[in-house]
Amino acid sequence: MGKIFSVIANKGGVLKTTISTNFAAELSKKSKVLLIDTDGQTNVSLSFGIRRNEIKNSLFDILTEPENNHIEDCIIQVTDNLHIIDSGKGMNNYSKEEDRGIGDLEKQLHLISDLYDYIVIDTAPVLNFSTLQVLWVSDQIIIPSQPETFGLNSLIDTIKSIREFESKTGKKVDINSIIISKFDSRSKTHKRFLNDIKEVSKRTGIKVLKTKIPNSTTGSNSIEEEQIPTVLSKRWYKLKSTYSNITQEVIKNAK
Ligand SMILES: Nc1ncnc2c1ncn2[C@@H]1O[C@H](COP(=O)(O)OP(=O)(O)OP(=O)(O)O)[C@@H](O)[C@H]1O
Ligand SMILES: [Mg+2]
Repeated sequence: MGKIFSVIANKGGVLKTTISTNFAAELSKKSKVLLIDTDGQTNVSLSFGIRRNEIKNSLFDILTEPENNHIEDCIIQVTDNLHIIDSGKGMNNYSKEEDRGIGDLEKQLHLISDLYDYIVIDTAPVLNFSTLQVLWVSDQIIIPSQPETFGLNSLIDTIKSIREFESKTGKKVDINSIIISKFDSRSKTHKRFLNDIKEVSKRTGIKVLKTKIPNSTTGSNSIEEEQIPTVLSKRWYKLKSTYSNITQEVIKNAK
């Protein structure tokens, strides 16, 4: 069964999707990878230039009508080694209902997880019902955090919510690491918040990756110009080595 890594933070714009897509794409250079979007913004599909008319079924269909839809029909093959499941816009309004349970996503993933070495899951910027299902099924959680007041606050909240989830459900959640995102090494404020994030790391025992994602105007160039995540571009980007190093660090932490 493929190891499941999920990128979670209850804040928008901290690079959850950018990290998920580049991490999955980097892993797919050597392994078989399924990348799943659980956020109704459908930004994973957009990152690969997949058009709506190319998507037959999405995660929303199998979570809401499992009797009429099959997870195999949701899989979009981007390359031989990298497959994607689109979230479906309906995930924006997906919530807890009588006939829905915390293990619904897990049930679906069990049907196909043997086909993959890794499953990577991108999530919405809220700890909603779909994110709780992601926490339930994941082996490892990655939390991106921006070095600023809102970012630190969200990091602390996210860790607290995950720990509350653990005590409510009895499920152990392994937090792989915190990734510092949109870091500006020239900013005194960022340096100060970096220390604050390290303090959180010391207090909670959660590792902070050595590799930070620099704040960069070229961060979305590969998507805008080629409709692919940075690590798959044939062009030169400094950020390629950043995501390659992040992937190595995350995998090392997971061992
Ligand atoms: N290195 C970078 N520095 C600054 N901005 C970046 C960088 N890489 C990507 N971006 C841009 O930052 C924005 C937010 O990135 P992304 O969509 O990955 O965040 P997110 O956490 O998934 O957001 P949401 O919570 O809305 O899903 C995007 O417009 C993206 O193109
Ligand atoms: Mg996103």
